[in-house]
Amino acid sequence: MNVHAPALAHTHEFDEQTTAFAEDVIGNLAQHPKRLSPKYFYDVTGSELFEQITVLPEYYPTRTELGILRDRGDAIAAIIAKGAALVEFGAGATTKVRLLLERSDFGAYVPVDISGDFLKAQADALRKDFPGLNVYPVAADFTAPFALPAEIANMPKLGFFPGSTLGNFEPNEASAFLRTAREILGDGAQMIVGVDLEKDERVLYDAYNDSAGVTARFNLNVLVRINRELGGNFDLSAFTHRSIYNRERHRIEMHLISRKAQNVRVLGHNFSFRPGESIHTENSYKYSFERFTALARGAGWKVRESWTDKNRMFSVHALAALD
Ligand code: AVI
Repeated sequence: MNVHAPALAHTHEFDEQTTAFAEDVIGNLAQHPKRLSPKYFYDVTGSELFEQITVLPEYYPTRTELGILRDRGDAIAAIIAKGAALVEFGAGATTKVRLLLERSDFGAYVPVDISGDFLKAQADALRKDFPGLNVYPVAADFTAPFALPAEIANMPKLGFFPGSTLGNFEPNEASAFLRTAREILGDGAQMIVGVDLEKDERVLYDAYNDSAGVTARFNLNVLVRINRELGGNFDLSAFTHRSIYNRERHRIEMHLISRKAQNVRVLGHNFSFRPGESIHTENSYKYSFERFTALARGAGWKVRESWTDKNRMFSVHALAALD
């Protein structure tokens, strides 16, 4: 436990979540190189900005994955056991899960998310449009073990993790997540996972440096959040967004670059920046089929089938639990 946490909570009367945010920010900005976790992008503004990113001309992943789920819907439905419980890791836009729900006969739908607000919105929308569907939301951090609802105990399980969110995990975290999902879903389980593929660097670069500057605003929003929630004094005009492709590590890296020498204060802590110094805010790993297959196997899953689009931009994999 961070020794500053009780002091922070006491002095500023923060709730538990804000205390954890404060601890994380202060600890990570004190590192060399400075970092911030991508999980803090998604406040209300950040989630709206992300929704805008998903429809940008340069940002191909969302529309490509949707195209695969739509075009390969029959093949995907063919592997799903009748009456299965569909367990979705993370809540948000319901567009993708609808494509599965429309084509297969599920016994239940179980969205899992740490944010009760997102969960409620997702569950309400789907109950309305699929009146016969049993929806059992679970409020939990899906990267850690959690219990499935008793109601689905006897149903076959199908996990669903679209969006290449797996790519925002470090490879060891991605492996740990898949292993935990295997344990939670149990023997005989299957899983559908969306994974972004390695490709031409220019395409990747443009997807994360869009011409309308939405990704830049998304990235900078984490500083807005620190200023508002933790009383920081980041000057937004003194930082610039930069995404680069790191070929050796197969990942897009997002950074916020200090335009000058400057000092920033957050909760009584001083952080000094050199001109050009970076805060590393996100990694988005891109996988080849081979590297994803190896990752899945190491975490207790066999790749049963894989689908891609005609330009091989994005992949959707059906996994089966190894005995
Ligand atoms: C949510 N995640 C899969 C996105 C990605 O592509 O890594 C987040 C994102 N970051 C910048 N643009 C989109």
